Amino acid sequence: MYVCICNAITETDLRKIAQASAGTAEELYLQLGHEPQCYQCIDNAEAIVGDARAAANVPACIET
Ligand code: FES
Repeated sequence: MYVCICNAITETDLRKIAQASAGTAEELYLQLGHEPQCYQCIDNAEAIVGDARAAANVPACIET
């Protein structure tokens, strides 16, 4: 299922990169080679990122 229609980013792609990389949904989009266009997907994308990291026990950020 597509999370971001503007950039054709799928939920599977977003979950994989969320578990492998730190950062917000917008930052993860950039890592995938895209920039948000209309931003209508960002709230849902952030929820998916949080859910993916919680499921994988990955912290949302790394404290220094
Ligand atoms: S739907 Fe993701 S930026 Fe438009």
